[in-house]
Amino acid sequence: MKTIKLHTGDNLPTVGFGFWKVEPETVGGLVEHAVRGGYRHLDCACDYGNEADVGKGIANVLQQKICTREELWVTSKLFNTYHRAEHVRAAAEKSLMDLQLDYLDLYLIHFPISLKYVPIEHRYPPGWVYDPDAESPKMELSPVPIQETWQAMEELVEAGLVKNIGISNFGTSLIRDLLSYAKIRPSVLQIESHPYLTQEKLLRYAKQENIAVTAYSPLGALSYVSIGMAEQGDIVLEQPVVQVAARHHGKTAAQIILRWGIQRGNAIVPKSSRPERLDENIALFDFELSDAEMRSISALNCNHRFNDPGVFGEEVFNTFCPIYE
Ligand SMILES: NC(=O)c1ccc[n+]([C@@H]2O[C@H](COP(=O)([O-])OP(=O)(O)OC[C@H]3O[C@@H](n4cnc5c(N)ncnc54)[C@H](OP(=O)(O)O)[C@@H]3O)[C@@H](O)[C@H]2O)c1
Repeated sequence: MKTIKLHTGDNLPTVGFGFWKVEPETVGGLVEHAVRGGYRHLDCACDYGNEADVGKGIANVLQQKICTREELWVTSKLFNTYHRAEHVRAAAEKSLMDLQLDYLDLYLIHFPISLKYVPIEHRYPPGWVYDPDAESPKMELSPVPIQETWQAMEELVEAGLVKNIGISNFGTSLIRDLLSYAKIRPSVLQIESHPYLTQEKLLRYAKQENIAVTAYSPLGALSYVSIGMAEQGDIVLEQPVVQVAARHHGKTAAQIILRWGIQRGNAIVPKSSRPERLDENIALFDFELSDAEMRSISALNCNHRFNDPGVFGEEVFNTFCPIYE
């Protein structure tokens, strides 16, 4: 597995397995299949509601000695309800307990959105709405300065609970501000990126600041069709340039898109609940796209963001909460 060298000296495996929407009962078998097939990077989050199942899967692969803990890269994410300094450590410790680990390789602030606190004992994962039993359930914002959250994240590194800290769904202005006070700089920025949302300026800025980028939803609309946040017509796999490249290299359209993702210098964390697709999504290192192929896939960009709190916050959680505008 190829890796990306972070400013801390750690090596982030280029292809990871993302666990959003993976059914808890299937997680354990998929973790074993993935690690046996060469995956060394697991992209988890409190919000995905399956960290305890990933933890059982990790315990199983370590017990069977399929790989060692040191060879595995495990990411988790601080959810929006835990941004206050006094809640950050408890949230990280809950993820560690569920994942059956004594350290995380990477802990990310999941979104630059701070929601009203919900105690872990009351509901976990808390989800996006404050009170699901209310007559009209909705997200309830409770702003916390990112600086306060970041300093608490830094304390996790100092306490040895976390090796690297980073951010997700942040734009350049917020990162620039964060870098003005960060004692420990972010190692990784995780953002939505695929051929319809290439994010060239954000990538260039991250590179300039020596922050590695992980692209989430690297296959684009595929993840969003089933939850009503994209349409069949938004799927990039059918694009002629992708199909031509797939035929030329004897690869699937998904492999072309994923190869484009890593060849841009990013890590990617594709999700699949199907073992054969997990194998497909990691078989990306025996071919290379030409400069012309890279350019023509990048030219598909139309700044189409599928995962936008400014849209789903209102449609699904009853609260208008734009973060990118
Ligand atoms: N930081 C954030 O805010 C954030 C947000 C979203 C996602 N993420 C992370 O990024 C990961 C990946 O993103 P994602 O799950 O949204 O999208 P994705 O990995 O781009 O796409 C997943 C979708 O593509 C299908 N698929 C996977 N491999 C395929 C293949 N080879 N051929 C055809 N279809 C294929 C999957 O279906 P099957 O499962 O049926 O194969 C699923 O519907 C997440 O799991 C999560 O870890 C992070």
